Amino acid sequence: MSEKEKVIFSAVQPSGELTLGNYLGAIKNWRNLQDDYRCIFALADLHTITVRQDPKEFNHRILELYALFLACGIDPKKSIFFIQSQVHTHAELGWILQCYTQFGELSRMTQFKDKSKKHADNINAGLFCYPSLMAADILLYSADLVPVGADQKQHLELTRNIADRFNGIYGDTFVVPEPYIAKMGARVMSLQDPSKKMSKSDENANACVRMMDDANVIMKKFKRAVTDSNSEVKFRNEGTGIDNLIGIYSCVTGKTISAIEKEFEGKGYGDFKKAVGEAVVNELIPIQEKFKDYMNNTDYLVQCFKKSREEALKISEKKLSEVKEKIGFVL
Ligand code: TYM
Repeated sequence: MSEKEKVIFSAVQPSGELTLGNYLGAIKNWRNLQDDYRCIFALADLHTITVRQDPKEFNHRILELYALFLACGIDPKKSIFFIQSQVHTHAELGWILQCYTQFGELSRMTQFKDKSKKHADNINAGLFCYPSLMAADILLYSADLVPVGADQKQHLELTRNIADRFNGIYGDTFVVPEPYIAKMGARVMSLQDPSKKMSKSDENANACVRMMDDANVIMKKFKRAVTDSNSEVKFRNEGTGIDNLIGIYSCVTGKTISAIEKEFEGKGYGDFKKAVGEAVVNELIPIQEKFKDYMNNTDYLVQCFKKSREEALKISEKKLSEVKEKIGFVL
């Protein structure tokens, strides 16, 4: 199969402001894959209600994130980019696949364990069954590859198990997808504690760069970023703050690690942190400007997600019918 025929599927939850981690771990790769693959992307808003959302804010955020993705270069003329809750097949196949997912498998998911600790007052069934819905998202489109950050790897393995199990019972139905995890950017860590992933819900505001942070704030956050007790800009692959900063710089500029080490030979951490901050500012500010333009043209946004909705329905309804027929439902 040529790369152009291979299908890519991925999604991001509209669960808060996007971070530099989401951007480098996911969206930047999506943009780059659009020319070489058949790309299908979604805002996974059904997943987001596993945590309670304020209706007005949620509604507005979905639209904002749609605009932000277009500003990042997701192009609905090249790719399908839809809103999950507008495509009914996801909830329907999600239910079906829950019946092919084991309680034990779901209990082992680290994201479920983390989130149930964090939202101890609302450990709902949706939070538990979330990976079956994620499997439905992917399997509806016969995706070959799923570009995600490293934290989603476990969900992807479960998707593969569910697909294998279903195929084993009913014969070849689903394409068993492969994760596509980039070497750099798959795990962008907190700027304050490099043992934790960069996350929008971090209590320490300096830990996380948000896509909409202004230039001064971004520079300040990098200036305050923790490093280590060495002084040379050298990648040690030990998960230190400096390793994280080199990873970010490499991802944003496209420079290799050895080129970066050479560039900063004889310079201190202060110079390096300033350079990383500037590179991130140069990457994010043009996106923020485009975002404002798209938000001033919501008619265009609506036109894009309606068109993508129709395209997504066409593909996914066909797969859902095939699944229902195999199970024995009367169609
Ligand atoms: P979500 O919304 O938490 O994150 C979206 C994407 O961003 C990546 N990511 C990171 N990458 C590197 N460093 C970080 N610090 C970082 N934080 C987040 C995530 O790995 C992800 O790729 N369950 C998914 C959404 C989803 C999905 C799908 C993904 C729903 N259905 C089907 C793929 C296919 C989620 O919650 O991602």
